[in-house]
Amino acid sequence: MVDRNQKVNIAVLVSGGGTNLQAILDACGSGIITSGEVRVVISNKAGAYGLERAKKAGIPAFCITRKEAGSQEAFEEQVIEKLEEHEIGLIVLAGFLSILSEEFTSRYDHRIVNIHPSLIPSFCGSGYYGLKVHEAALAKGVKVTGATVHYVNEIPDGGEIIMQKAVEVKEGDTPEVLQRRVMEQAEWVIFPKTIEAVCAKILREKE
Ligand code: GAR
Repeated sequence: MVDRNQKVNIAVLVSGGGTNLQAILDACGSGIITSGEVRVVISNKAGAYGLERAKKAGIPAFCITRKEAGSQEAFEEQVIEKLEEHEIGLIVLAGFLSILSEEFTSRYDHRIVNIHPSLIPSFCGSGYYGLKVHEAALAKGVKVTGATVHYVNEIPDGGEIIMQKAVEVKEGDTPEVLQRRVMEQAEWVIFPKTIEAVCAKILREKE
């Protein structure tokens, strides 16, 4: 769980482009994250660009799909196998768009964090992911949105909130423009910071 250099071994789970994964990798390189190190990247979607980003950074990357595994249970078993193989102490969901079972989330209580592109409790829960979140925020006409990092429990987007950052919605925003602003101003900023804080906490608890 903690390696010889006293860092928490991190697994990043992705489903798509992996810009948050990239922000985490960059933060490990620049010294924003010093209490943890990304050891493995797992995608549940074949062809996810996040897998390429991992390979470019020299990090073991695997694709495990529910379809190929045959069931949610078998899928999660294969994920757990990889997590154990890499002695993972913190699981980071970075644009991982599959809901994990209660068996899985309770096994890793306070050891899974997720980023969601809104200010929870707005525009969250089942069905709210990726661009859909920003479409809903624009449809409602909110003037402020943002991003939230939270622990993951059995309720989708329902775990304890760790960090949030607000972002302004501007006149004429499209979902794509707003998504990009939320990523740049909030997600890529608070996610690495939160991961560092959570890893440091895990290390303190081990002392
Ligand atoms: C990010 O905006 C992330 O917050 C969101 O998906 C995007 C993934 O982008 N996650 C959710 O909506 C989870 N409910 P990325 O693959 O470029 O990091």
